[in-house]
Amino acid sequence: MRRPLVAGNWKMNGSRAANAALLAELELRVKPQWPIDIAVFPPFVYLAEARRALEDGPIAVGAQDVCAEASGAFTGEVSAAMLQDIGCRAALVGHSERRHWYHEDDALVARKFAAALSVGLMPVLCLGETLDERESGKTEAVVGRQLDAVLALNGIERFVTAVIAYEPVWAIGTGRTASPDQAQAVHAFIRRRIAEQNANIGGQLRILYGGSVKAGNAADLFAMPDVDGGLVGGASLSADEFYEICAAAAARH
Ligand code: PGA
Repeated sequence: MRRPLVAGNWKMNGSRAANAALLAELELRVKPQWPIDIAVFPPFVYLAEARRALEDGPIAVGAQDVCAEASGAFTGEVSAAMLQDIGCRAALVGHSERRHWYHEDDALVARKFAAALSVGLMPVLCLGETLDERESGKTEAVVGRQLDAVLALNGIERFVTAVIAYEPVWAIGTGRTASPDQAQAVHAFIRRRIAEQNANIGGQLRILYGGSVKAGNAADLFAMPDVDGGLVGGASLSADEFYEICAAAAARH
């Protein structure tokens, strides 16, 4: 059985005081015995402090991005080894905001995925189509292309320790969630594509849904057979909302 994962993507939000309050509240409320994984993804400057605050408790810390290069003259970048050094366990790669605002293409995302894995970080590979692409019937073509680029560079075996997040761009931060059936259809497509290359890995791969996940819709989304948790943006900034979403994942089985 796949262990659900709830990941909180804080995006460019927070402050030392707000983060400390949010993490303290979450630590108090989430139950270590829940059969789920929980991770938060604060901005880079707050990672070390978040990691110290959470120690080795049930909430892991991950980064929102990672440099594809290992070290050296790449001003402004943060390497996978640095993230690993401060105790990060995961990194998002290919979030749609990175793809859109910073022009990250499939090839770069594939290299970031490799960089994360090279030091033992769990890559959370984000895939998703725009509204235009969905409306013109290209969802599977786009998601398949994004996935194939990462598969081609890394190989199927590297997906053993990876996670995929399906995040339709039209659902991110818009309040417009994909319906559970819409999410399930794309998740099943992604799993099939992986399983075609390796049935075992396809069966074990965790596929998260992201895009306006809230306390009020989490249980319905997580009830879908191929939805193994969520990548949560806006609602991860509220201890109440994020706690309820984690509780919905914990109640899944
Ligand atoms: P949202 O963001 O939950 O605010 O829609 C999700 C994400 O971008 O990861």
